Formats: sequence, C-alpha cells, structure tokens
Amino acid sequence: MRVLGIESSCDETGVAVYDTAGGLLAHRLYSQIAMHQAYGGVVPELASRDHVLRLLPLVREVLAAADSDRESIDGVAYTAGPGLIGALLVGAGFAASLSFAWGKPAVGVHHLEGHLLAPLLEANPPAFPFLALLVSGGHTQLVDVAGLGAYRILGETLDDAAGEAFDKTAKLLGLPYPGGAALAKLAEGGHIGRYVFPRPMLDRPGLDFSFSGLKTAALVALRDRILDESIRADVARGFQDAVVETLAEKCRRALAVTGHQRLVIAGGVGANRRLRERLAEVVRNAGAELYFPRAEFCTDNGAMIALAGCLRLAAGMHHGGVMNARANWDLGDCGTTGE
Ligand code: KG4
Ligand code: ZN
Repeated sequence: MRVLGIESSCDETGVAVYDTAGGLLAHRLYSQIAMHQAYGGVVPELASRDHVLRLLPLVREVLAAADSDRESIDGVAYTAGPGLIGALLVGAGFAASLSFAWGKPAVGVHHLEGHLLAPLLEANPPAFPFLALLVSGGHTQLVDVAGLGAYRILGETLDDAAGEAFDKTAKLLGLPYPGGAALAKLAEGGHIGRYVFPRPMLDRPGLDFSFSGLKTAALVALRDRILDESIRADVARGFQDAVVETLAEKCRRALAVTGHQRLVIAGGVGANRRLRERLAEVVRNAGAELYFPRAEFCTDNGAMIALAGCLRLAAGMHHGGVMNARANWDLGDCGTTGE
C-alpha cells in the first residue's frame, strides 16, 4: 500500500509518500513562516493562496523523489481538519481532484491523529496502546490511544495551547513569530529560579491544563524593566520551566491513572529539548518508555499525514472520494471511519 499525503492546515505545505513495505519514501515541506512574520502571526487568506501556489510543484517533486507515479499510488491522504478552513480546503480540493483523476481513494486525516502517529515514522515505533501528549500551537491534550482511530481525551487546555503560550511570551520578549523555538534557545542561557512562574492547575486534581496566566506573569515580570539580554534569558527560562513542569506532572498523573507503559510526545512543542529531558525522567520513574518523532516531524509535515492515511486505507477506515474540510473537529470524533 502506497499513499501520497498532503498537509495544508496552517502555514506549512507538506507533501510525502509513505509505503507499508518501504516506509517513508520521500517528503518535502515548504514553510510560509517568513511571509507571515511581517504580520506577527498567520494571515489565513495569504496562507490559502500560498498553498495553491506550492502544492502542485511539491507533489511533482515528491513523486519523482519517491520514484512513484499515479499507477503506483493507492490513495491520496489529506488533512481534513482541524485548521484554517481556507487552507484546509486547498489541500482537500487538491486531493479530491487527484483522487478523481487517478481513480484512487481520497483519505481525510485528522491533523492531530497525524501528530500522534508521527513516532511510527521512526525506527523504534511504539506499539498500541499508549498515552500521548499532544502539544502544538493550537492544541494541548493528553490522549489515551487504544488503537488506530480509538482516541479518548483525558485532559486538555482550558485556554491557551502550550505552543500559543510559548509564541505569545516570545512576542513579549521581542522574538519573531512563531517564537517557541527561539524562546527555548534564549532560555538555555537563563538562570534557573531567577524568575519563578506559577505552575497552573498543579494544585488541582485532574488532567486539564491552563496556560494563559503564564503569559500575564511574564508580562508582569518584564514590565518597567530595562530589558538586557540576561533578564530576557532568565524570564524565558522561568517561563519554559513552568510549562515543562506542568506538562511533566500531568503526564506523570496520566501514566499512573491509565497504567500505560508508553508515552508519546507529539506536536510542535514536542521538539522542546527540556520537555523531552524532563519527560524522560517521568517515564523512567514510572517504569515506562518514551517515544517521540525527530524534530522535523514534531512540527507540521506531510509525512505524518501520508502515514496516518496509509494506515487508515490499509484498515479500510476511510470514506473514499468524499471531500471533507472542518475547521473544528474533535480528535475523539475521528473514530474508525475518518470522515
Ligand atoms: O504542531 P505545530 O507545527 O503546528 C500546529 O499544529 O500548531 O506546532 C507549532 C508550535 C508553535 O507554537 C511553535 O512555537 C512551537 O510549536 N514550537 C516550540 C518549539 N518548536 C516549535 N515550542 C517550544 N520549544 C520548541 N523547541
Ligand atoms: Zn500541527
């Protein structure tokens, strides 16, 4: 089974070919970040227009690199949601057209399913079932993954996503959008404990998160200060430690509650080195194992969509030619049909 995957839910155009026997055959990513940076965030209309320009050349390039053509492709997977509706429609329309022209099924994939299956692209993939921490720019969720399509949300953020908190605090620190990775870099030079931010929701039972207060705490810490490099680094460090500690404690609780032996970190914030180190300690103490994709497959990419689409197609868990795009779509509802 060989599947072409298309990701266009936000500001990256990702295309890949995944094969059940050969694994990931080729993948390409075009990031629009430079275009959106001037506006301090993603401009949806510009994102859609750019996906239109990038998709066809990227698909041609990836098919050539994967030594594949319309005959050897068994299905076309695309991100059906959640995301920016215009951007999603570009990918969905493109995939539906290819599916019609090639006479192959189109497979709508939930973006977060793509993220949480991304560690399956690596050499030592986790077996089902597992616990997944999904930490991206739009979502922060703890998910009980029983199998393909069988996802139960154990906890989620009540306000900002972890990545959103990173991006907003990075902006306060004068870093360009999206500032998560730049903030993490700045924090490396910061002192531990010079600024101690609140650990939201740790005083309460349960597995939900809240990050909007951290941005306010950073704003207060920075107010009326002459910001030299070392203060900025100390604030970045304090902020990052608070986010990491909160995520780690909730993962510890979730492992204890579910009894899972495997923890998967997925989504853009999963690229954060401190988070990975801290979660490695958590799983060690719990006698469990930690899995995460390489950094480039933590953030949005076409490989995870090709993989998820391939697994769904192989399992008959898809609807075929139906074109689908949903701005809002709960992971718990993507079920065993995908659309
Ligand atoms: O999964 P993703 O590429 O897009 C969404 O689906 O949202 O995640 C992007 C998010 C952004 O908020 C970005 O700042 C954050 O992931 N991010 C990081 C790091 N690398 C990316 N946050 C913290 N540390 C990093 N190293
Ligand atoms: Zn994402």
